[in-house]
Amino acid sequence: MTPPTNTCCRLAARPEGMPTPDTWDFTEHDVPEPGDGEVLVKLSHISLDPAMRGWIREGHSYIPPVQVGEVMRAIAAGEVVASNAEHIAVGDHVSGMLGVQQFAVANGHAVQKIDPSVAPIPTWLGALGMPGMTAYFGLLDIGDPKEGETVVVSGAAGAVGSIVGQIAKLKGCRVVGIAGGPEKARYVVEELGFDAAIDYKNDDVAAGLREHCPDGIDVYFDNVGGEILDAALAALGRHARVVICGAISQYNDSTFYGPKNYMALLVQHATMTGFVVSDYGARIAEGAREMGAWVAEGKIKTREDVVEGIEAFPETLNKLFTGENQGKLVLHVG
Ligand SMILES: NC(=O)c1ccc[n+]([C@@H]2O[C@H](COP(=O)([O-])OP(=O)(O)OC[C@H]3O[C@@H](n4cnc5c(N)ncnc54)[C@H](OP(=O)(O)O)[C@@H]3O)[C@@H](O)[C@H]2O)c1
Repeated sequence: MTPPTNTCCRLAARPEGMPTPDTWDFTEHDVPEPGDGEVLVKLSHISLDPAMRGWIREGHSYIPPVQVGEVMRAIAAGEVVASNAEHIAVGDHVSGMLGVQQFAVANGHAVQKIDPSVAPIPTWLGALGMPGMTAYFGLLDIGDPKEGETVVVSGAAGAVGSIVGQIAKLKGCRVVGIAGGPEKARYVVEELGFDAAIDYKNDDVAAGLREHCPDGIDVYFDNVGGEILDAALAALGRHARVVICGAISQYNDSTFYGPKNYMALLVQHATMTGFVVSDYGARIAEGAREMGAWVAEGKIKTREDVVEGIEAFPETLNKLFTGENQGKLVLHVG
């Protein structure tokens, strides 16, 4: 039997605008050996995240960029097939920053154990993983929603936004989602229980916010930035909280559209606060416990969009920017 090889996807060149096939390079290697304290993981699923576009951009961010020639950074999950870490056994399932490849060596303390008998692995990369924690801490810690308040979330049908809206409903808020297309607008209202949705591709967002938030927005959870952020700023209520989670509408643009309506913050005595989920590393157990219970009890619905094969990485990543993904986007690689 021929020994398995490790297919890796590397950054070949920094893209201008949307990544293209030339952005990536696939290489084949021997499967690596774990050193002291390390584990060898056979990846089953790779998480595709909008942040990846930022990670391949030159320059300063909250994390250093991936260098040209390096294996593309990615959160991923799989089964441990060799272990030199005392607390991790062969057969355990783990997730961590394992990269776009089929096998990864990682420090045993840099991965988290996950339990596929509790939830399927794609869910561990979605609602029970980084996007779920982003929704949980961003909404509850920064948005601080109170019962009866109006919460608006953009990117509403996506991995983070769909969880934000459902948590806000659990907290007794009125929830309005902004999403692209009639099917996503229908999904968040009929299947996730949001009170209303605005289809930003076909409807006037400002008019929709006036209609669905007659007393103003109390919490705006922003996943998209750009003109939708401006429309939300113009519709804020007094003492509103704007949570800056992301600005996906701008990630492929070299000229970043910044907010024009920011004086609404002054007029409405409002705040606008950015955050990165890694700020909450010390509180992950709390978020994981509560999210795990909500998912197990069926109070939060999850949806994953699983695409087959590591070689599909380049075109699949771009689905995040065209809106073709239906929920948490994941590659199945083994
Ligand atoms: N701060 C943090 O720590 C943190 C952590 C995780 C994620 N994030 C951010 O959270 C946001 C959502 O991430 P996710 O993983 O949940 O992705 P996602 O929502 O599952 O997928 C991305 C979605 O963005 C929407 N989109 C793409 N281009 C757009 C545009 N020009 N205008 C409006 N919407 C657009 C599309 O939905 P439509 O079909 O509705 O257009 C697409 O499906 C991103 O901005 C991401 O960077 C931040």
